[in-house]
Amino acid sequence: MGAHDDLHRRSLEDPKGFWAEAAEDIHWYKRWDKVLDDSNPPFYRWYPGGRTNTCYNAIDRHVESGRANQAALIYDSPVTDTVKTFTYAELQDSISRLAGVLKKYGVGYGDRVIVYMPMVPEAIVAMLACARTGAVHSVVFGGFAANELAKRIDDAKPKMIISASCGIEPGRVVEYKPLLDGAIDLSEHKPAHCIILQREMCEAPLVSGRDIEWDAAHTGVEPADCVEVEATDPCYILYTSGTTGVPKGVVRATGGHIVALKWSMSNIYDVKPGEAYWAASDIGWVVGHSYIIYAPLFHGCTTVLYEGKPVGTPDAGAFWRVIADHNVVSMFTAPTAIRAIKREDPDGLLVKPYDMSKFRSLFLAGERCDPDTIHWSEDKLGVPVVDHWWQTESGWPIASNMLGVEPLPIKPGSPTKPVPGYDVRVLDENCNEVAQGDIGAISIKMPMPPGTLPTLWQNDDRFVESYLSEYPGYYQTGDAGFYDEDGYISIMSRTDDIINVAGHRLSTGGMEEVLASHPDVAECAVLGVADQLKGEVPLGFLVLKAGVSRGDDDIVRDVVQMVRDRIGPVAAFKQATVVARLPKTRSGKILRGTMKKIADSQDYTMPATIDDPVILDEIEVALKDIGYAGGR
Ligand code: COA
Ligand code: AMP
Repeated sequence: MGAHDDLHRRSLEDPKGFWAEAAEDIHWYKRWDKVLDDSNPPFYRWYPGGRTNTCYNAIDRHVESGRANQAALIYDSPVTDTVKTFTYAELQDSISRLAGVLKKYGVGYGDRVIVYMPMVPEAIVAMLACARTGAVHSVVFGGFAANELAKRIDDAKPKMIISASCGIEPGRVVEYKPLLDGAIDLSEHKPAHCIILQREMCEAPLVSGRDIEWDAAHTGVEPADCVEVEATDPCYILYTSGTTGVPKGVVRATGGHIVALKWSMSNIYDVKPGEAYWAASDIGWVVGHSYIIYAPLFHGCTTVLYEGKPVGTPDAGAFWRVIADHNVVSMFTAPTAIRAIKREDPDGLLVKPYDMSKFRSLFLAGERCDPDTIHWSEDKLGVPVVDHWWQTESGWPIASNMLGVEPLPIKPGSPTKPVPGYDVRVLDENCNEVAQGDIGAISIKMPMPPGTLPTLWQNDDRFVESYLSEYPGYYQTGDAGFYDEDGYISIMSRTDDIINVAGHRLSTGGMEEVLASHPDVAECAVLGVADQLKGEVPLGFLVLKAGVSRGDDDIVRDVVQMVRDRIGPVAAFKQATVVARLPKTRSGKILRGTMKKIADSQDYTMPATIDDPVILDEIEVALKDIGYAGGR
């Protein structure tokens, strides 16, 4: 047995011993009473009785131990032509001043704060200022529409929202304030105050009495110190797509989060304190939370905040420039970003001008990684390229090659093996493990390790119903896959209607809800169909009500705009087609899986329960008309 397997076995045989040892590496005001409270399954709590603070572990601890003048954060923004470095001492100063502002406006322990901001340093300051005061932040991705923001406001009930006047997408300034105001109009819950960072590209109008400009808010305010919180207190809520349009509020408990992320930096990513680490994601996603902000800062690294794209800002060499300029040793991004680069620079000519001698590894996650992307990156970059698998709920990798423990041979198409703490089983519908090589539901035997979600925000019932009811004692990941003869796992598809578009997790159910609300639509379905760049893109099917007189193209245009307005541009919903009928089983279930296979030009077997097989021919014709089903 190798070191990876050894460590994994030890973590499952003695989880309490294993995670007590890992917990020695972080700062506690008071040690835990118990490592794990397993008295109330399926609700498990790590380190109850322990008292700590997320911001203290990310910032103050390093300032006090000799890293005050080390770069903590490098803001690299090709879209504003800015590069700015912040030391640990400088971040501590900004964070404690904003923490003072929160205090002044009555925001403290246990209060929620929504952060709706672009990729600017102030967003990180805002998140850490919440953690400093014991408030619970909930970051909302900038590519969501007002309606999505409103849903999160109503669920989290924030006392305050911290936002900015705008974000910058290539070729356009995205004004945040109209979206924020629209969301607050739509929501039932109203925050008492909004703090607005005015960026120079766009000045947002302020609502008197409610909105306070960022700098003005700081005037005359005393900096605030870290507040001790319980290890089991939530550090943040992060909403993610479920099977309906109502997002799930994934809760992250404070103590386990710090322990697991700190542990992952050396063991999985093989990065040392003081080194520069870069995750090219967005702070609105879990990858951004865990690996732009928390893990590298808990570990005393320099982290890079990149406000730009893999291509077009200004070219497909942007990632390699950032790695070279900031001495990045390890980078994390989504396969789709590499595919975008490869499409523009297939021969990797734009790698050559940059000195990447410090660069040691590239990690990919967020969607299934096609072997071509792995091969191309290995070939052009000359470093190990590690596909690893996880999700918002886990908060850190479930399966990965562990470069800090024992680098294993890379098998493209597989994220290697489960990492310590995760007892990953592939189950059939009767909750039995399937044979090696057979596909089944990927499930994790409870309890999961520290850092994983303890529940959904104020919704224990939905937590149990979504993840724990189908296979008692197991957490359902929602992914399907298999183990091979070497114990490597492969993640093949979702078992629900979640799709991954350019590494962004989206609910087709949520899009169907929007389509169904169009007055001319009788029935609809949305599928994720294969896309060479984005992995998958959504495609809508519409059945119109009898007697509709408007043209099909007009209705398609309407629904595309409706999804953009209600979910946001990030849904990338650009295509839909009108059909006479949808294929269904005799019990009335829409055969989405078969439709997807037809769209992707894959072989399919005629479902035995199909109501009327002729409809599949009609679907194929409609798909060919818009360039799918072998039509491309
Ligand atoms: N704020 C506002 N709008 C945003 C946004 C944000 N933060 N992020 C994306 N959008 C918009 C885009 O501008 C685009 O709008 P458009 O329809 O007007 O063109 C739309 O949402 C879809 O964005 P995206 O799917 O990202 O496609 P793209 O064509 O703009 O870019 C890639 C393609 C591959 C370059 C890009 O998807 C990418 O960098 N992906 C990496 C994904 C990633 O980091 N995922 C995190 C998990 S690790
Ligand atoms: P998110 O919660 O947005 O991080 O999305 C998590 C989902 O993305 C997982 O449940 C998988 O479906 C998919 N995913 C993430 N990483 C991988 C990977 N390495 N391989 C295959 N699918 C992945």
